[in-house]
Amino acid sequence: MKKVLIATDKPFAKSASDQIRSIFTEVGYNCNFLEKYANHIDFVEAASDADAIIIRSDIVDKQVLESAKKLRIVVRAGAGYDNVDLKAASEKGVIVMNTPGQNSNAVAELAFGMMVYQIRNQFNGSSGIELKDKCLGIHAFGNVGKNVARIAKGFGMIVYGYDPFVGKEQMEQEGVISVDSVEELYTKCQFVSLHIPANEKTKKSINFDLLSKMPLQAMLINTARKEVIHEEDLKRLFSERNDFSYVSDIAPDCAGELSDFSNRFFFTPKKMGAQTSEANINAGIAAARQIIGFFEKNDITFKVN
Ligand code: 3PG
Repeated sequence: MKKVLIATDKPFAKSASDQIRSIFTEVGYNCNFLEKYANHIDFVEAASDADAIIIRSDIVDKQVLESAKKLRIVVRAGAGYDNVDLKAASEKGVIVMNTPGQNSNAVAELAFGMMVYQIRNQFNGSSGIELKDKCLGIHAFGNVGKNVARIAKGFGMIVYGYDPFVGKEQMEQEGVISVDSVEELYTKCQFVSLHIPANEKTKKSINFDLLSKMPLQAMLINTARKEVIHEEDLKRLFSERNDFSYVSDIAPDCAGELSDFSNRFFFTPKKMGAQTSEANINAGIAAARQIIGFFEKNDITFKVN
């Protein structure tokens, strides 16, 4: 009998877990949930007899891979897989997949939740501003970026996009003005929403030079990864520009040092972008089906290593 471990420090909604369990039960797989675990070692130990693992932002490192002697596949129920040691997984012959697009609407909606909260001065009673007729730059036009564009049009925003991997035409079909460089995006847009992955090229790439190009009353919205921000530069920008604000779906490492700017800085205490029942169900079910598809039909669609 195949054993599947669902290791989610930040648990799925109960409705999603129930559906995942019944999908595996139907095909005769055993599944165990490890949720809100206190230490990484709990995950390492729970992985020891797993044939397959479903994770979210949980860390799959060499320790987990060494412990899981029977492991054949890891599915990241979500988009970003920077939490998985892909090289170590490949060396051990473990397939890694993600579930692209399944939680992207939830992340996009949160970007607007954070934007509105901030432009209304964190609901402190003072007069804020509106999003209508303001320029929004979408930095990377993947699944989340597309949803951000759709919602932004509902708000009446003027939407720009930059993505070296997406053609002008495709963006224009979605009603987005495509720009040729990242500098142009930041120069034109008062609001910039980040949707780049965290990798060797992008880490710390959102730096002082780029952010200082933004127009007056600039706001950076980060529902991507904290690692893409150059935090030393972010601190410098906060102290040099009193019109700049930053909202982030997870605390930056320098959160404490930004506490003096709390009227222009906000972060969610836990990463909340994908934390809706709908996104949990979509990503969790997709992950379960991908595992079954791999074992029963050797289907490796969505393999990332
Ligand atoms: C993702 O990469 O899919 C999102 O950042 C969501 O991450 P989470 O599943 O840990 O909430």
